[in-house]
Amino acid sequence: MITETELNIGLFGYGVVGKGFYNLIQLHPELAINTQQIVVKHEANHLLDENQNLSYEANIILADTNLKTVVEVINNNNDALAIAKKVLGDGNTLVTANKRMLAENFEELYALLKSNGGKLFYEASSAASIPIIKILDEYFANENIHSVEGILNGTSNYILSGIFNQNLNYNQALKQAQELGFAESDPTLDVEGLDALNKLVIINAHAFGVIVKPTDVFNYGITRIGNDDILYAKNNGFIIKLVAHASVNIQGKLLLYVAPQFVKSSEQLYHVNAENNGVVVNAEFSGEQFYYGKGAGSKPTGAAVLADVISSKKSNGYGYTKLRKQNFIKYDIFQQVKVYVRYNKNIDIDLLELDIEENLSFENSRAVKGKIYLNKLYEYKNWLESNDISVIIFS
Ligand code: HSE
Repeated sequence: MITETELNIGLFGYGVVGKGFYNLIQLHPELAINTQQIVVKHEANHLLDENQNLSYEANIILADTNLKTVVEVINNNNDALAIAKKVLGDGNTLVTANKRMLAENFEELYALLKSNGGKLFYEASSAASIPIIKILDEYFANENIHSVEGILNGTSNYILSGIFNQNLNYNQALKQAQELGFAESDPTLDVEGLDALNKLVIINAHAFGVIVKPTDVFNYGITRIGNDDILYAKNNGFIIKLVAHASVNIQGKLLLYVAPQFVKSSEQLYHVNAENNGVVVNAEFSGEQFYYGKGAGSKPTGAAVLADVISSKKSNGYGYTKLRKQNFIKYDIFQQVKVYVRYNKNIDIDLLELDIEENLSFENSRAVKGKIYLNKLYEYKNWLESNDISVIIFS
């Protein structure tokens, strides 16, 4: 039998992910991972048993020079960043599931890693149980990737699957996703595509070696999808999924967006239902690969955190090969996509400068199919949202 070397950790957060992780290490004492301290924010939310070393004071972990490995699975973005800076600044190891904190501060954290020699692991951040970061970072380190396209948000996929497959309505499906512990504490992040966007930013850095700011990428949520869109999709053999897209063309122009997308049954993502995530990678030599698994939930996400903690014993962290190499790939929002835009009959959509291919008419609204420059969608995003306009991209 292999005996694992003991590892003492400090754990920040005891919510859905924290509990999932903690329960797994209790079930597997042979892994020899000891939670020396748990730090939480609100007493009322955390009924811990008496044996646990529970505190509300971050420095109990951060100032303990014997705790060199910190697991951070909290909600608050600013607190998470302060923890990350301290741990990495001290040259220690951080395992985090905090996609928003990572995506918004990727450049800074990467610089800190390079200068201070700490270790950073975040597999749980991007597709929960699917080890997509490792795959992109290690396996595809030296192979050109053409595209990565994924369903990266379990909650919105749960809702869309409920609507398409079980005739649930939006609110029923969202409520279920919340009860099952898939949704963010603010579910707007899920349904408006922000959570998927943060995950895309992280994935993109490893797949293409380009760091972008989430605010520079067009993202559109699922909340404006109406019955007309659902019927249109069904009649044309599509399902609608919230898709995070990254692809590069032969000129090295990188296209990025998160938006509802019509998906055909011949595509892998069509079959990704409920809270599952799916990622399709298209690479120069490997061709198409498809990764599928649970994208949210206490146990699957806890398992990804655990896998990172175990990796941290042996590995120095991600290689970031593509970020380190000279890179000809550049993010370019001035690229065309094929889109369906449905709007109320009294709205004029000329400002989008669509190259219209087809006009569609519904009882209370009309829609157009055509090509549009992504920068127009980006520029008029607030206008689109405030006019309740449905935007769905064709794959
Ligand atoms: N709220 C997230 C989701 C949790 O639904 O995918 C996992 O990151």
